Amino acid sequence: MNQMIESVQSKDMLQNQKMYSQILEYSVETVFIHVDHKILYINQAGSNFLKGSKKDIIGANLLSIIQDEFKSIIVERIQKAMLATGPIEVIEQTITRLDGTFVDVEFYCHPVEFGGRKVIQTGLRDITKRKDAEKQLIEREKLASIGQMAVGIAHEVKNPLTSVKGFLQLIKETNPHPYLQAMESELEKAIDTLQNLLQVSKPNLYSEPITKIDLCKELTSLIFLFQDKMYNTEIEMDLRNSDQMIIGKKNLFLKAFFNLIKNALEAMPEKGKIRIEHYFQGDCIYVKIMDNGVGIPKDKICFLGTPFYSSKGEGTGLGLAQVFSTIHEYGGTIQVQSELGIGTTFIVRLPL
Ligand SMILES: Nc1ncnc2c1ncn2[C@@H]1O[C@H](COP(=O)(O)OP(=O)(O)OP(=O)(O)O)[C@@H](O)[C@H]1O
Ligand SMILES: [Mg+2]
Repeated sequence: MNQMIESVQSKDMLQNQKMYSQILEYSVETVFIHVDHKILYINQAGSNFLKGSKKDIIGANLLSIIQDEFKSIIVERIQKAMLATGPIEVIEQTITRLDGTFVDVEFYCHPVEFGGRKVIQTGLRDITKRKDAEKQLIEREKLASIGQMAVGIAHEVKNPLTSVKGFLQLIKETNPHPYLQAMESELEKAIDTLQNLLQVSKPNLYSEPITKIDLCKELTSLIFLFQDKMYNTEIEMDLRNSDQMIIGKKNLFLKAFFNLIKNALEAMPEKGKIRIEHYFQGDCIYVKIMDNGVGIPKDKICFLGTPFYSSKGEGTGLGLAQVFSTIHEYGGTIQVQSELGIGTTFIVRLPL
């Protein structure tokens, strides 16, 4: 009877061990087991992540993937884990993979029993995407606060400039001078820029009645505003489901699509092609504006829509800020797909 119980127990143990090793092996995260810094086991996800074969990794010193400045912290962590009964706090650090590339990871370890002795099971979680998103968020926040400051300044500067313009007009009538016209038109440009900035940052102050908008009709007429560029550019229109209409401030939407088409045209150094699509799908209207222009670098996509971000010598960087604020205020979304040298697609989604 006792023998029978023992054999059932050892069978259970074997089964448990098999299950444990299967869980480790098929985990999608890097898991390895080590003792005295020597790696005894690494799962398949781990060897893929560290860019080396299991043969290269098993038997190697764990500290070889740790950067010099972190080695003492890791040694201390492992010592702490050996004495602990459960997992110890997670730390973030950069490790060096076997092919020499660096990667940001979360490093966590805890003690386990392996082959009858206490060893350390360590897990690595790739946090590159999270780190990138954090960096982009910080950049965006910085730019957004600069934008807010700029709006405050714009508000303060616009009023005195408007009164200077008024006095200039008065002087023009009493003491005409050839320079006065140039001064007035420069002043108008400055006031226009400030007005655009204010409109972008406070679109809801822009009082315009809300009407039904036939985007297909409006997109067709917008194209005619770019007649001068048309002989260099082929414009393809595929406008479907024109019976579906959004309700909103027409001029704001016209300006937004004007800005998107203008950017598409400016992205093409010589001859190019623009395709504009309009269609209805799943309760939303989609407008796609595709160009085969220069494209946008991946690390710059997060800046799109931030006031004053521009790569153009003459650009004010307010075009996309107006587009984003109009579409977001309506409750829509904008998706940008771009590849350098191939082109860019802006997909505007407007729920009905
Ligand atoms: N279709 C596109 N292709 C390539 N780059 C683009 C495209 N659309 C926008 N961009 C990039 O985004 C930046 C910001 O665009 P935005 O319209 O806000 O400002 P701008 O075009 O530079 O100036 P403005 O529109 O005020 O005259 C551009 O300078 C450009 O680098
Ligand atoms: Mg623009």
